[in-house]
Amino acid sequence: MRSLYRIAAGLTAAALIVSGVHAIQRVSRAGRYLYTADGNRFYIKGVAYQQQGAVVADTSNPFLEPSTYIDSLANGTDCQRDLPYLQQLGVNTIRAYSVDSSLNHDTCMQLFSNAGIYAIIDLSLPVNGSINRDSPAWTTNLLDLYLETVNTFSKYDNVLAYNVGNEVVTAANETGAATFVKAAARDVKAYLNSIQSSALVGYAAIDGDASWIVPLANYLSCDPSGSNSGATAIDLYGLNNYEWCGDSTFEASYAGTEGNFAGYNVPAYFSEFGCITAGTPRPWTEVGAIFSSEMSPEWSGGIAFSYFPASSVQGQFGMVNISSDGSTVTTGQDFDNLQAQYAQASPPNSPSESSAGSTSYPSCPQQNSTFVASTTLPPTPNLSACTCLENNLGCQFTPTTSNYTSILGSLLDYACSLLGQSGGSCNDISANGTSGTYGLVSECDPTVMLSYVMSEYYGATSNNPQSCSFGGNGTVNSNAKSAPTSAASSCLATATGTFVPTLPSGVASTTPTGAGSSSGSGSGKSSGSAPIAAFDARVFFGVGVLVVTSMVSGFMTLA
Ligand SMILES: *[C@@H]1O[C@H](CO)[C@@H](O)[C@H](O)[C@H]1NC(C)=O
Ligand SMILES: *[C@@H]1O[C@H](CO)[C@@H](O)[C@H](O)[C@H]1NC(C)=O
Ligand SMILES: *[C@@H]1O[C@H](CO)[C@@H](O)[C@H](O)[C@H]1NC(C)=O
Ligand SMILES: *[C@@H]1O[C@H](CO)[C@@H](O)[C@H](O)[C@H]1NC(C)=O
Ligand SMILES: *[C@@H]1O[C@H](CO)[C@@H](O)[C@H](O)[C@H]1NC(C)=O
Ligand SMILES: *[C@@H]1O[C@H](CO)[C@@H](O)[C@H](O)[C@H]1NC(C)=O
Ligand SMILES: *[C@@H]1O[C@H](CO)[C@@H](O)[C@H](O)[C@H]1NC(C)=O
Ligand SMILES: *[C@@H]1O[C@H](CO)[C@@H](O)[C@H](O)[C@H]1NC(C)=O
Ligand SMILES: *[C@@H]1O[C@H](CO)[C@@H](O)[C@H](O)[C@H]1NC(C)=O
Repeated sequence: MRSLYRIAAGLTAAALIVSGVHAIQRVSRAGRYLYTADGNRFYIKGVAYQQQGAVVADTSNPFLEPSTYIDSLANGTDCQRDLPYLQQLGVNTIRAYSVDSSLNHDTCMQLFSNAGIYAIIDLSLPVNGSINRDSPAWTTNLLDLYLETVNTFSKYDNVLAYNVGNEVVTAANETGAATFVKAAARDVKAYLNSIQSSALVGYAAIDGDASWIVPLANYLSCDPSGSNSGATAIDLYGLNNYEWCGDSTFEASYAGTEGNFAGYNVPAYFSEFGCITAGTPRPWTEVGAIFSSEMSPEWSGGIAFSYFPASSVQGQFGMVNISSDGSTVTTGQDFDNLQAQYAQASPPNSPSESSAGSTSYPSCPQQNSTFVASTTLPPTPNLSACTCLENNLGCQFTPTTSNYTSILGSLLDYACSLLGQSGGSCNDISANGTSGTYGLVSECDPTVMLSYVMSEYYGATSNNPQSCSFGGNGTVNSNAKSAPTSAASSCLATATGTFVPTLPSGVASTTPTGAGSSSGSGSGKSSGSAPIAAFDARVFFGVGVLVVTSMVSGFMTLA
């Protein structure tokens, strides 16, 4: 059934091409700007396109991040319904925050491509599909999730960029998590190069105090090796900016931000804008400023938030309502105002592509009290090494429910506390982006980390079978021949560097096209390895450091 549907979708696409629709132009990066293939400067005139998933409002979820998601690019009927409205708005880009790589996106992506609309695809997912700001790591499960999504979307010609994170870092004391975001950018970029995809690699940052958001931006696009290589640099920086509320002026709202990012080395845009605190409907007069010659030297447009209704602590965003049967779209004044503003936007078509130059990758910001990320990045997560470890552990996490995410954090805390009481530590599974030290097992899926800690505790009790029970969540593995630490060093000691990642086996690859292009970037060098420094000796356990269940950065939040 699946393959038949593929063929049918392919025929539809072919029919559309035959009927005279022109292929969407490729967008390339030159210097710090974007250009379409015909040499014109490209500005993102966009709208967020994501139906909101379930939001559980409680104090542990201050940003009202959703716990489930709806893949808005997987329902062709809905995209067909919305396309005329996107065209009325005059957008050339949509941003999708959460997509499911197992679904078919052919109809939506083809419809949008034919209409000249690019897509910015966020690779992270709510709950356990993002780099967790409370316990950040770059692990095999996230790498595989990201690569599977890239693989699913690489056959479309209108993917402008893939975001490796949205608002992972939300405060100065979380900037250590940037090492993991940068490692994600490095590995996704290497994968895109390996499949000859020209899509850009992006990150969408929360706004905040310049003392940390500016070094964070510079860090994500810097070269730690000091050799002007873009191998670990994002191609496209997004700032979720809500500084302009109601009717304002460039001077009052954006002049500071403009100054902060003057001279930034890669293309930048507002990955969200559209403040509601001055009331709705919004006048959207910031469009005039964003697309003006005051801001065009730095910014390449933005994404208005949001097409669909979206609730936040500040109130309701959204410029349309959808009828409960999904058949009808109702627009309001907010929609009309944005349409009018986008219709008037005429940013300068300069500088020319030939004078935009190549991108340079400066050295990274120094660590200080408001920016703490190390330039020593975690390794590329190595699935075969982690599988080798899992197979050689004496006590394995064998969840009795497929929905194990909700118990993983508490089991990790519990196992670490037991291990600590018996004289061990959880250092091998901990990653610290501030010190740049990464325990051997910290690149593995959290389930493997848990099996590892359970096995260490099991070993510390002389393999007492009772100590592998964990309330029925653990099973003794009689095939294990060595202690967990020996298994970790034999499986993972050679897995501490960087390499070009590949799709997990069993996932069929697709032929890439991709609308974005990072050619002319002067990059392509490998970043070298990220050797493990002497490991932080701090023993931590039972302090909630690894609460994997906490909400993560899968959807929009506000500064
Ligand atoms: C950052 O500081 C806030 C309070 O200022 C605190 O609640 C939070 O836990 C800190 N985060 C980290 C990662 O230390
Ligand atoms: C830390 O360095 C950044 C520049 O990388 C600077 O903007 C920030 O103000 C510095 N923080 C402090 C506390 O000096
Ligand atoms: C697509 O969405 C519509 C409502 O907008 C719904 O009726 C339909 O069942 C959905 N299709 C699929 C395949 O989920
Ligand atoms: C959507 O529905 C909400 C709730 O009824 C209403 O407040 C809002 O104005 C509506 N928006 C549009 C664009 O119709
Ligand atoms: C991944 O780890 C395995 C097992 O330790 C090792 O043999 C392999 O070389 C590593 N792969 C890469 C690409 O480094
Ligand atoms: C998230 O957890 C679920 C089980 O609760 C698991 O099936 C899924 O693979 C996990 N996703 C990632 C990216 O680890
Ligand atoms: C997974 O478990 C959590 C907590 O028990 C629950 O809130 C959530 O709805 C479950 N998810 C699924 C898909 O069953
Ligand atoms: C990470 O390393 C820094 C610097 O060495 C240290 O101050 C911090 O306590 C460490 N964090 C954890 C969770 O161990
Ligand atoms: C597994 O661990 C969870 C969390 O600690 C616990 O609630 C549950 O009872 C344990 N046992 C089983 C069989 O799930």
